[in-house]
Amino acid sequence: MPRILTGITPSGTLHIGNYFGAMRPAIELQAGGDAYYFIADYHSMTALADAAERRAYTRGIALDWLACGLDPAKAVFWRQSDVPEVCELTWLLGTLTPMGLLERAHSYKDKTAKGLAPNFGLFAYPVLMAADILLYDTNVVPVGRDQKQHVEMTRDIAIKFNLTYGETLVVPESRIGEATAVVPGLDGQKMSKSYGNTIDIFGDEKATRKKIMSLVMDSRTPAEPKPDAEKNLAIQLLKLVAPPVAASDCEKQLRAGGLGYGDLKQALFEHYWNFFAPYRAKRAELAANPGYVEQVLRDGAARARAVAAKTMDRARRACGLR
Ligand code: ADP
Ligand code: TRP
Repeated sequence: MPRILTGITPSGTLHIGNYFGAMRPAIELQAGGDAYYFIADYHSMTALADAAERRAYTRGIALDWLACGLDPAKAVFWRQSDVPEVCELTWLLGTLTPMGLLERAHSYKDKTAKGLAPNFGLFAYPVLMAADILLYDTNVVPVGRDQKQHVEMTRDIAIKFNLTYGETLVVPESRIGEATAVVPGLDGQKMSKSYGNTIDIFGDEKATRKKIMSLVMDSRTPAEPKPDAEKNLAIQLLKLVAPPVAASDCEKQLRAGGLGYGDLKQALFEHYWNFFAPYRAKRAELAANPGYVEQVLRDGAARARAVAAKTMDRARRACGLR
C-alpha cells in the first residue's frame, strides 16, 4: 500500500483552494492508502512571527481537517514540531542540496519579489519540506500545482543522498488533481491567502456573501448570450460546490442568455453555503471539545515518531553519524 503524505502550513485560515486542491484529495485517499497528514507549524515560521497567532492557526487547522473528514482511525495526523527529528534530517539533506537548486525555487523567488525579507529559513524551506516527505518513507504527495516543484526538488535531494551514502531514502512522487489543480480566487488569479482573494471554508455568512456578490463580472446585459460561459469565474467556482447538474444548468442558461450575474452569484453563494454546512456543524462540535483534538494530535505524533525514528536511524548510519 503506498504511503501518502501531505502538510498544510498554519499561516492563516483555510480557503476553498486549499480544500479542493489539497484537503479533499487527501481525505479521499485516506481510505485506500497509508495516510500521513500533518500541520506544518515549523514552516509557518517563514511566514509569521507571532506566537499566539501560530497557536490559534494550528488549532484552527486541526479543527478544519477533522471537520472536513480526516479520520484519525484511518490517517496519522500530527503537528510537525512534535517530531523534531525532521530538523535533524533537514540538516543532513541541506549539506547535499546545491545552492543553485534552492535559487531556482519559484516560491522563494515569488516571496522575495513580493517584498518578504529573505532569510535562511525561507531559502531552506524546500529542504525542510524534503525532510518532511523523506522522514516518513513517503511514496505519494498530493498537493496543488504550486507545490509540484518542491516535490521535484525532494526527489533530486533523495536521489543525491542515495547516490552519496547508499540506498537509504524512498524517492516520492507528487500527485496533482487535474480538475482542481488551480482554484481561481475572487480576482481570477490563483486563490491564495497571500493575494487576499480567498473564500474561506468556514467564513462568516454575511462577509462571505458580500465577497461573492462583489465578484467583478463584465458589463453584458442579462439577456445577452455568453458563448464564453465556461470562462466565467462564478461558473468555475460553482462547478466545485454545486451538484454537477445544477452547475451545468447555470452554465447553459448563461450561455444562452437570460441569467443575470446577480442571480448567478446568489446561486454560487447558496451552493457554497450548503456544500460546507455539514462540515460547519462538525467543526462546532469539535471546537467544544479541545481535549479530544489535542489527544488526536498527540496520538498521531507518537505514531509518526515511531516511523521517523527508524528512518533517522538508517540515515545516521548511512552517513557515518553512527
Ligand atoms: P496559500 O497559497 O493560500 O498560501 P498554501 O500555499 O498554504 O496556500 O497551500 C496549501 C495547500 O493547498 C497546498 O497543497 C497548495 O498546493 C494547495 N492550494 C493552495 N491554493 C490553491 C489553489 N488556489 N488551488 C488549488 N490548490 C491550492
Ligand atoms: N509547503 C507546503 C505548502 O505551503 C506545506 C508542506 C510542508 C507540505 N511540508 C510538506 C506539503 C510536505 C506536502 C508535503 O502548501
